[in-house]
Amino acid sequence: MKNIVILISGRGSNMQAIVNANIPNVRIVAVLSNDETATGLAWAKEQGIATGTLDHKAFANRLAFDTAMMALIDSYQPDLVVLAGFMRILTPEFCTHYEGRLINIHPSLLPSFTGLNTHQRALETGCRVAGCTVHFVTAELDCGPIISQGVVPVLDKDTPETLATRVLAAEHKLLPQAVADFAAGKLSIRQNRVLGSITPDAHTQLLA
Ligand code: GRF
Repeated sequence: MKNIVILISGRGSNMQAIVNANIPNVRIVAVLSNDETATGLAWAKEQGIATGTLDHKAFANRLAFDTAMMALIDSYQPDLVVLAGFMRILTPEFCTHYEGRLINIHPSLLPSFTGLNTHQRALETGCRVAGCTVHFVTAELDCGPIISQGVVPVLDKDTPETLATRVLAAEHKLLPQAVADFAAGKLSIRQNRVLGSITPDAHTQLLA
């Protein structure tokens, strides 16, 4: 059994997708947040999952928060930590501590559009496809070995909101699949490449 801790900052729909996927060999041991008003926390609690919050505003600096968060996370002895809409820039100390067992979902086809407002920027750039990326986390923002990517078309009538909705549907397939592949021991990293990742959604989404 693999213990998974999920970090969220808001609605937590990606966290819900992981929980609802009932992934074999995976136990969601905690859902943690930096914001006690994150709506996903209430949902997790209803499912009987342990939850916890550390308010980043109560800490003197980024490292103090990350150090406390590491202690909280580690109290659950996770095999994997999943950033599912966790809206914090992480310190190198945090990233190094969880190297090889920390993954993130980002709503763009990395390395394009790191950071925020990804859908608006994809539209402004005139992209004909957009999507999402699951990757191992390294100290550089939205970087690290890519596990899988989901691709969706960009339509002429798209707004950032309609594109976000289409990408989110791909996220909800991609992230549970990555967790399942990790739990099944299918993923290995050689240099900067993840070997053994499976990306069927990339093709089904593109052709849909
Ligand atoms: C997702 O689009 C995720 O890719 C991004 O933040 C959003 C979180 O959504 N990092 P949710 O909280 O999982 O619903």
